[in-house]
Amino acid sequence: MGKIKGLLFDLDGVIVDTAKYHYLAWKELADMLNIPFTEKDNERLKGVSRMKSFEIILEIGGLELSEDEKEKYCGIKNEIYLEYIRKLRKEEVLPGVNVFLADARRKGYRMALGSASKNAGVILSGLNLTEAFDAVIDGTKVKTAKPDPEVFLLGAKELGLNREACIVFEDARAGVEAAHNAGMKAVGIGTKESLPNADICIPGLFGTNIEELIRQLGPWRKG
Ligand code: BG6
Ligand code: MG
Repeated sequence: MGKIKGLLFDLDGVIVDTAKYHYLAWKELADMLNIPFTEKDNERLKGVSRMKSFEIILEIGGLELSEDEKEKYCGIKNEIYLEYIRKLRKEEVLPGVNVFLADARRKGYRMALGSASKNAGVILSGLNLTEAFDAVIDGTKVKTAKPDPEVFLLGAKELGLNREACIVFEDARAGVEAAHNAGMKAVGIGTKESLPNADICIPGLFGTNIEELIRQLGPWRKG
């Protein structure tokens, strides 16, 4: 059994609670298109790329648009989202994250971000968290979205680690699947009901001891 040396973190819902801003921006766009869109619908967009999210909203509204129009509306949504993100405060980092990251660094773990978001850079710098990660893999660097393992495989590679030396922290089912497809164990941020495929679930990073968590996860096994 290899020793865990690398921690790969999803961004939205693991490090920072941006889901509400994604929702507000999509809601404004959905209103423009007269599509009913609720917070419950928004759950379906977690971990899903921007374009795929918009396609889900269009499906809810029974609307079909050309590729050009879809690109245009995704651009509008992102402008609205960025207005919120530029005002993001350091206090919006999820509880316990800063302590957890600092403790893990002190203990010698290498850490990478593995996010679908193309706005990860802006978010991390707004939260003063850029330095907390040894590598940042985001939506601008990967071609295929979760559940494809690309984002986490690239994360491990940039950390200079084998896949079995890494574990993933994820709040979305597609992200947990991506971790498994990469051959890595996944710590679900949420409940067993919301993330039945996670290897272990914790409510958040607050009060979490990394060494104890790795012990609970148990040895890595193939398949
Ligand atoms: C994921 C979010 O992290 O990033 C999704 O969970 C979002 O809701 C996706 O759609 C893409 O984000 P962005 O910032 O590139 O629009
Ligand atoms: Mg997420």
